[in-house]
Formats: sequence, structure tokens, C-alpha cells
Amino acid sequence: MHRPADKGFIENLVTRPLDELAREADSVRRSRYGDKVYIRGLLEFTNRCVCNCHYCGLRRGNTKVTRYSLSEEEIAGSVQRGFAQGIRTFVLQGGEDPQWDTDRVCRVLEVIRSRVGDSVALTLSCGIKSAEEYRRLASAGANRYLLRFETSDPLVHARLRGGISLAKRVEALHDLRSAGFEVGSGFMVGLPEETTETLVENLKLCVDLGLHMVGIGPFISHPETPLCNHPCGSMDQTVRMTACLRILLPESNIPATTAAGSLETGGRSRMLSAGANVLMPNLTPLQYRGHYLLYPGKDTITRDGLEELDTIRTHLEGQGWTMSLQRGDSLAFSPTQNFVFNRTK
Ligand code: 5AD
Ligand code: SF4
Repeated sequence: MHRPADKGFIENLVTRPLDELAREADSVRRSRYGDKVYIRGLLEFTNRCVCNCHYCGLRRGNTKVTRYSLSEEEIAGSVQRGFAQGIRTFVLQGGEDPQWDTDRVCRVLEVIRSRVGDSVALTLSCGIKSAEEYRRLASAGANRYLLRFETSDPLVHARLRGGISLAKRVEALHDLRSAGFEVGSGFMVGLPEETTETLVENLKLCVDLGLHMVGIGPFISHPETPLCNHPCGSMDQTVRMTACLRILLPESNIPATTAAGSLETGGRSRMLSAGANVLMPNLTPLQYRGHYLLYPGKDTITRDGLEELDTIRTHLEGQGWTMSLQRGDSLAFSPTQNFVFNRTK
């Protein structure tokens, strides 16, 4: 059963030498997931968003973005192409787009299921919805949901997200768990006013939420946002947080994220060496890629995720890892535990 994290333990953890932390995290990862790196096919299905987050290039207030949304056929067709190549997990990610209401997302999930069956894991990442909507999405075939809390500092959270509260985000994460999802969340490294205390609290919240998946990455400053002059997050700090997460949540799936690869060449490999075990190649049709810029310099704009699979496999094997196309369910996940976890909250 999950217990709230011991803050003293985390405070101690974050101050340890980075190479020592990374080595320990690597050995924890190996003990649970061996040398496997799981592949998730990412589809960025809409870049429209009603939110106005200060850090994000897709914020409502950025009028320079060419807005798009994929058609149902483009989404289902892309999933089918990935499926034919052996991929068994797909992530449908988008902004909070009223044109994609829950009925429409449910319909596309059903179309996908009718084409590729039940063997694949379908992950959604499309923002805050009601508990009832989450239940409908789960019934329509979604298995996992990603909703980062971004920062555990309630004041900074509200300031950077146009008054939307951290409490609401955390409540949504509990609703997702109750709906039966494998739940993913996480934070950015290097947001304004971040202190060691923030990092400790970020880690503590990940543990307290009993996350099955944790996505983190460095903040990267976007010129068309209010944070245009704020420095980017540090890769060392991101690697440190990755290692701490692996040690604190040994059975969670932790992706080596695009933001890390975009900030620094080899950034993803550094995360993989420090406990991460997932990669998310981009399967979004190429003509849309350049329009899904949460931050500038995204390094997956031009490469086709499917054509890239062989390169990824060779690269991983060169580093002593094995690429796995299987579902790679979180070892931390069990539907009954979801139920117990919520009842004891
Ligand atoms: N830099 C890095 N990550 C960002 N995200 C949004 N904007 C940025 C940025 N400027 C992250 C947020 C969001 C996820 C989809 O992308 O954490 O939840
Ligand atoms: Fe919208 Fe997500 Fe960007 Fe916020 S971070 S503006 S919710 S796409």
C-alpha cells in the first residue's frame, strides 16, 4: 500500500552527489524493468487550447500559432500505421480544446479500438475534465491518462496558470485514479521561484499521489509567452529529479522526455541513464509538427517517428538497452489498488 513520502528522506536524497544518485537509480530501474526501454507512439491531435499558461507556446493568448486539429481518420490511421509496425501504446495528447468534447474523444477511442483491438494501451492527455467524463473516457477504451501538476507550489501554480488552482489539478488526478486509469503526472524543472523546497515538494507530491507514470522535463523559454525572459531549466537538475523519482517510485514508468532532448543533445540518454525507461517517438503527421510548439527548438519536428524506430533501436542497443514495443504497463498499477488508494485518502 502506498504511504505518504517521508519528507526528511527526500530532503536528504536531493542533496546527494548526482553521479551516485544516477547509479543507484539505474540499478533500481534494472531491478524492476531490466534493460527494456518502452516505446509510446505520440499523436498531438489538437494544438488549440482554452488555457493561457504563462510557460506554454500553445497558450490561448499566442495568436502567432497556426491552430490545427487532426481528423478522426488521421488519428485512427496514424494509430493503425504504428500498430502495423508493432507499437502497442499510443498517447493522444492535445490542448484543452472545446471542439474535442468528451463525446468526440470517446468516439475516436471507439474507432481506434474497432481497428486495433484490445491489445494496445491508449493514453489520453487532454486536460481537466469532470469525474463523470473521466469514467466515460475509460469506458470508451482509454487506459491511461497524463496530467502534469506542473509545480507543487500552490501560489506559483495559480500565478502561472491564470488562477487555476493546484487543488483542482490534484482533485482531477484523484478522479482519474477512481475512474480506473493508470495515472501519470509530473512537473517542469526550472519554473520561476523554484527553490530546493519546491523540488522536494514536487517529488513528495509524486509519491503521495502514488503515480504510475511520471513525466518531467526542463522548462524551456518560449519567446511568445510571458516567461520569454526567464532562463531555461537545468539539465543537471532534470537528471537529478529523474534519479530521485526512480528511487522514490521504483515501479513507475518514467519517460525520457522531448523537452530534455530539445534542450540538450543527448538529454534523453542522460535521463535513461538515471532511471527513465520510456521513449515517446512522435507519430503526428509531419505537416502538423511545426505547429505543436509548447517550447521552441523541439527536436522531433522533422523526423518521422515510425521511420525513426530502427535508429532508436540501434541507438538503444549501442547503450546496452533493448527497445520494447510492448505495452509496458506500470508495475505500480493494479485496478483494485486504485480503489483502495482512494478509499483511504
Ligand atoms: N517548456 C517545457 N515544458 C513545457 N510544457 C509546457 N510548456 C513548456 C515549456 N515552455 C510541458 C508542461 C505540459 C506538458 C504537455 O508540456 O509540463 O504539461
Ligand atoms: Fe494548454 Fe497545456 Fe499549454 Fe497550458 S500547457 S496552455 S493547458 S496546452
